[in-house]
Amino acid sequence: MRPARALIDLAALRHNYRLARQLHGGCALAVVKANAYGHGAVRCAQALADEADGFAVAFLEEALELRAAGIQQPILLLEGVFAAKELADVAGRSLWTVVHHEAQIEMIERTALAAPIHVWLKINSGMNRAGFLPAAVDAAWQRLRASAKVADITLMTHFARADEPQVITTEAQVSRFDAATAHLPGGRSLANSGAILGWPQARRDWARPGILLYGADPMPDEGHGLQPVMTLESAVMAVREIAAGEALGYGARFVAERDTRVGLVAMGYADGYPRGVADGTPVAVDGLPTRIIGRVSMDMLTVDLTGLPDAGIGSGVELWGRQVPVNRVAQAAGTIAYELLCNVKRVRFSYSG
Ligand SMILES: Cc1ncc(COP(=O)(O)O)c(C=O)c1O
Repeated sequence: MRPARALIDLAALRHNYRLARQLHGGCALAVVKANAYGHGAVRCAQALADEADGFAVAFLEEALELRAAGIQQPILLLEGVFAAKELADVAGRSLWTVVHHEAQIEMIERTALAAPIHVWLKINSGMNRAGFLPAAVDAAWQRLRASAKVADITLMTHFARADEPQVITTEAQVSRFDAATAHLPGGRSLANSGAILGWPQARRDWARPGILLYGADPMPDEGHGLQPVMTLESAVMAVREIAAGEALGYGARFVAERDTRVGLVAMGYADGYPRGVADGTPVAVDGLPTRIIGRVSMDMLTVDLTGLPDAGIGSGVELWGRQVPVNRVAQAAGTIAYELLCNVKRVRFSYSG
């Protein structure tokens, strides 16, 4: 059997959730959208079910998958509904839904609901992606109340640059949010992972941790004691020597400067390992650090075994996990850990903890 695997450490997930909730105070919705950032939404939600205050997904179908698996906590739809008929499920399955633009208010106004719903009213405090501008918040809030179909309104916003401690944008967003909502009742929710870790002034009633749950620290110092949840691993399946001056792999990108021992590893971009990584990207073989050399192919990649004489066929390879931080691989690929984790597919998933 092909040795490519994603090992998911659910104890690490719980550790990270607890850490976020404790740091922030109040309650925390565990963000498990996009299949829990590639980790398996049902398994992750089940692992957190005893302690999470609730979950957040992007859209209705993701929430229904969790309900079908027996998850009973509140589940928030971060994108809200796309059509009025989805509101029947929101009301019937006790889901919470974000309202971030007028069309969603109209849908609520014109739809008969079996029970009043819990809405999270999203305020655009400066990211300019979704939400009501401060000047439009009152009217939106009044319309939701007047509809008589809304039981609770939680006020929320989202940060554009919470993972950048040096910029003032986050503080400005907090001020704009507070000014726009000071006179309105209801719970508040501002903080994503970056804000939970780096911006105490953004802590309110509800946190919304995503990437930090999975152990990838979004802050530059990465010093918050998070535990990686996914280990992406495989094994060496062949070894060859190439002489100094010889090229390796597609495009002959890597040319050996000295005689080089090359390990062929069963992992490629079809598994979600990024093709864009440079030569030198860290990898661990039998627990020892070495580097990717040559272009990543669809099913295989190549690593430098020159300094690892004991490594050979069958040696274990960690592509990311506890020894190789996923953030390092993401940097080498010119992307972010979020994207790498979400993209893992085709490999076998196994769960522990
Ligand atoms: C509205 C909202 N809240 C929270 C999160 C979680 O963000 P992070 O993964 O940075 O913690 C996201 C993710 O994109 C989001 O869209």
